[in-house]
Amino acid sequence: MFDQRIRDRLNLQRKTGLYRQPPEIESRAGKVVYLGGKPYLSFASNDYLGIADSPALKEILIRNVERFGTSSSSSRLVTGNFRLIREAEEAYARYFGYEAALFYPSGFQANLGLLSTLFEPGDRVLVDQHIHASSVEGMALSGADVISFRHGNLDHLEKKLKKIGGEQAGVVTESLFSMDGDLLDVERLAHLKKCYGFLSVVDEAHAFAAIGSGGKGLAGGVADIAVGTFGKAFGFFGAFVFLPERAKEYLINFSAPLMFTTTLPPFHAGAALDILEIVRKAEPEREKLAAVSRTMKEALIQEGFRAFGDAHILGVEIGNEDLAVRVSLGLKDRGILVFPARYPTVALHHAILRIGMTALHNRDDVSIFIRSLKEVMENKETCHG
Ligand SMILES: Cc1ncc(COP(=O)(O)O)c(C=O)c1O
Repeated sequence: MFDQRIRDRLNLQRKTGLYRQPPEIESRAGKVVYLGGKPYLSFASNDYLGIADSPALKEILIRNVERFGTSSSSSRLVTGNFRLIREAEEAYARYFGYEAALFYPSGFQANLGLLSTLFEPGDRVLVDQHIHASSVEGMALSGADVISFRHGNLDHLEKKLKKIGGEQAGVVTESLFSMDGDLLDVERLAHLKKCYGFLSVVDEAHAFAAIGSGGKGLAGGVADIAVGTFGKAFGFFGAFVFLPERAKEYLINFSAPLMFTTTLPPFHAGAALDILEIVRKAEPEREKLAAVSRTMKEALIQEGFRAFGDAHILGVEIGNEDLAVRVSLGLKDRGILVFPARYPTVALHHAILRIGMTALHNRDDVSIFIRSLKEVMENKETCHG
C-alpha cells in the first residue's frame, strides 16, 4: 500500500512537471560549480556576500574546530549550555540591536520552533500569504487561528487588523521574500504596529548580512522578534532568533525543536563570532551585490523579460512548470546553473526562474546570463529535455 502510494505520487509529480531531482554537484569554486566534470556559472545559491567558499571562512572553520572539537554531543538540556554559545548569542543580539538571541540548528527549525511555541490555540495571527514553508509549518503546529493577508499588501493587513483588533494579535512576515524577491514596507508596518499594537515576527533570512546598514537587515525597531539564518549570506549553517530575554527563556523551556535536538557545536559559536566580524566589514560586498543585482534586473527588463525583485533575489516569470524546467535545462546546456521554482514553492502555474545574485557576480556574468536566456527563450522547443 505504501509502496503503491509512493509510486503514484512520484508519477504524478513527473506528469505535472513538479518532479524534483537536484543535480549532483562535484565541487564548487566561488560562483562556479562543477557537474559531470564541467564548470557552470551558478545563479542558484544564497551565498549573497560570496564568502561561503572563501579562504577566510575556511580558515575560521579550521581554527575553531581545532580549538573546540566537532560536536556538542547533545541538546542544551541534556549536555549543558556551552559558554561560547552564550557569548556568541549575546554578541549577535548586541550587534543586530535586540535584547537576546537564541541559536537553532537551522532556519527551518527556528521558524518551526518559534512559531509553534509562541502561538497557541485561541491566538489570532495574521500572516503574509507568501511566508516560508517553515513558518507555515510552525503556524500549523501552533494551533492558532491563522489569518492570511495578500502578499506584501499592508492595506489588506490593516483591513484584517481593523476587523479583529490588533492588541492580542500576532503578525508574521518577511523582510525580503525568498521567491518574490520583494521588500517589506517596513515604515508602513511600523505605523500599523503603532496603531494596532500587535506582536511582530519578521523573518530576515535573506536580508541579514546582505542588506541594510552594517548588514543589519531591514526590520530593526519594527520586529519584536526576528529570524535569521547562517545558511545564506553568512556562508555557514544554523540559524538564530532575536527576541526579548523572557521569550528566550520561554523557548528554552517549551520549544521542542530546540529542546530535543543536538545543539550547534561550540566551534559553530566560535566561528559565528568570527563571521560577525566579516559581516560587519562587508560594506564593499554589500554595495557590489546591490549594484550587480540592479544591473541584472535592468538588463532583464530591457530585453523584455518579465523580471521582478527589489534586491539580490530576482525572478523571471515563466508560468508553465514544464517550460520552466526546459528553460533551466537549456541554460544548463549553455553552462549556467539556475533553477525553476515551482509549486508548492510558488503558486501553481506561476513557475519562475529564481536568480540568486552574489557579490561575486559581475557585469560579464550578467551579459552571459542574458545572452543565454535570450537564446533559450527564442528557441524553446529545442531546449534539452
Ligand atoms: C525565508 C526563509 N526562512 C527560513 C529559511 C530556512 O533557513 P535554513 O536554510 O537555515 O533552514 C529559508 C530557507 O530557505 C527561507 O527562505
